Amino acid sequence: MKYVLGIDLGTSAVKVLLVNQEGEIEQEVSKSYPLIHEKSGYSEQNPEEWVNKTLEALKELTESFDGDIDKIEGVSFAGQMHGLVLLDSNQDIIRNAILWNDTRTTKQCQHIYDELGEKKLLAITKNPALEGFTLPKLLWVKENEAENFSKAATFLLPKDYLRFRLTGKIHSEFSDAAGTLLLDVAEQTWSNEMCETFGITKDMCPELVHSGDFVGNLSEETAQVTGLSSSTKVFAGGADNACGAIGSGVLSEGKTMCSIGTSGVVLSYEPSADLDFEGKVHYFNHGKADAFYTMGVTLAAGHSLNWFKDTFAAEESFESLMEGTEEIPIGANGLLFTPYISGERTPHADANVRGSFIGMDSSHTKKDFVRAVMEGITFSLNDSIEIFRENGKTVKSIVSIGGGAKNKAWLQIQADIFNAQIIRLSSEQGPGMGAAMLAAYGSDIFASLDECAQTFLSEKDTFDPIPKNVEKYQNLYQLYRQVYQQTHELSRSLGEFR
Ligand code: XUL
Repeated sequence: MKYVLGIDLGTSAVKVLLVNQEGEIEQEVSKSYPLIHEKSGYSEQNPEEWVNKTLEALKELTESFDGDIDKIEGVSFAGQMHGLVLLDSNQDIIRNAILWNDTRTTKQCQHIYDELGEKKLLAITKNPALEGFTLPKLLWVKENEAENFSKAATFLLPKDYLRFRLTGKIHSEFSDAAGTLLLDVAEQTWSNEMCETFGITKDMCPELVHSGDFVGNLSEETAQVTGLSSSTKVFAGGADNACGAIGSGVLSEGKTMCSIGTSGVVLSYEPSADLDFEGKVHYFNHGKADAFYTMGVTLAAGHSLNWFKDTFAAEESFESLMEGTEEIPIGANGLLFTPYISGERTPHADANVRGSFIGMDSSHTKKDFVRAVMEGITFSLNDSIEIFRENGKTVKSIVSIGGGAKNKAWLQIQADIFNAQIIRLSSEQGPGMGAAMLAAYGSDIFASLDECAQTFLSEKDTFDPIPKNVEKYQNLYQLYRQVYQQTHELSRSLGEFR
C-alpha cells in the first residue's frame, strides 16, 4: 500500500492527513497556534510556529504509523491565502507574517486604485484591491516599516514558506500567487506592470510552479526531525481554497463548493479566464493546471461561531453548543446576525463594517443566538451565490466542506438558504484532502486529478431544499440584506472607540 501526506496550513491550526492510495484517511494530527491581534484590524502569526507545529505533527504521525515509512511517497500542501512572509537575503524571516484577515491596508488599497485605475487592475489581476491581499501588505510595510522593507529580498505566501523550510527550495505557486495582486492571472506570469508601478523588484517574486509540480525532496534535516524518509517527494500544493476545490471534486464546469472554515467561501469552477465578474467576486487560478475558479468570501464564518463560543460559552463543546438548534424555528425567533465581526469582503468590501444582532428580545435563549449566527453566516455566503446567479451561472448543487458540513442542521440551513441541493462527502476535510490528492497525482499514483477524485472522493449524503423553508428564508434574506445598508455608517463612526 502506498501513502501520501496532505498538510493544511490553516489560520488556527495545521492539520496533517495521512491518506492511503485508496483515499482512506489513515491518520490525522492537528496542532494549533495563536493569532496575534496587536490592534483592532491587525492579524499576524509567527511563521516559526507554523514550521514547529508542522514538524511536531509529522513526528507524532510517523511515531504511531505502523506501516513502511518508505511507502509514504509524496507530500503536498494547502495554505491560508494572501499572507505576507518577508525574507532577507539570508532567507531569514524579517517580521511576523501579516495574514489574510488583517485589514490595516485600506489606504494602500486606495493607492493601488489611484495609481492604476480599477479597469487596468481588473484587466491584469482579475481582482479588486482588497485589504487582505498581499500587495497592499507589501506597500504597508514599505510605508510604515521602511527598514524592514529595505531588508526584504523575497516575499512568500504561508504554505510556500513552510514548503521552503521542509525542502530548502524557494518557489511561489500559481493558485496562491493569484491572491497577491502581482500575478497576471490569465497569462500566468508575474506582472511587470504591477511590479514596476508599485516598486516591487522582480527578484522579490520567486519562480512560479504549478500545484502538482515536483519541487524537491524533504531535506535530510526534515527527515531526521520527523522520522520521514528524505526520498519523500514534495509537490508544490495550492491555496487552501484551490485545494478545497480539488478535495471536494470541483474539477469541471458547473461544480460549486461551499466551505465554512475560519473564513467561508463559495467557489465555482471556471475553465478559462474569459468571464468578467467586474471584481465582484475573486477570480483565481485553480490547483488543476490552466483552470480557474470564481469565489466569494465571508471573512468571519467559522470565526463568528468560534468567537461566540469563546465569549459566551467557553466551557461548552461545539457539539453541545449546536445541539438542539434544529428545533429553533427559522429566523431564530426574530433574531438576525450579520457576521461582519472582522469587516467584510463579499459583497461588501468594507474593512470598517462590524457585526450585529438585530431583534434581541428578553425571551431569547443561547440556542436562539447560536441559530442566528449559523443563519447569518449562511446568508452572507448566499450573497456570493446571488452574484454567481445574477451573472448567469447555474448553481443547483453544492458540495459542502469544513466545519459547516459537520452538523446536519446547518447542512439543511444551507440547502434552504441557497435553494440548492447540498452534498456532503465522506470526508469534509477539503483542503487537506486536496493537498493529499496533489501528492497522489504528483507521485504518479493517478494519471490525473480527476482520476484521483474518482477513487478518493465519495458522497455520504445529500440535503434537499424544503420549499416552505426556502420561501421563509427568502423573506428573511431581504431583511438581512438591509442590515448592511443601515449599519455600515454606524460601524464606521464607532471606529474611533475601537
Ligand atoms: C480567501 C481568503 C481566505 C483564506 C483562509 O481569499 O482570504 O479564505 O484563504 O485561509
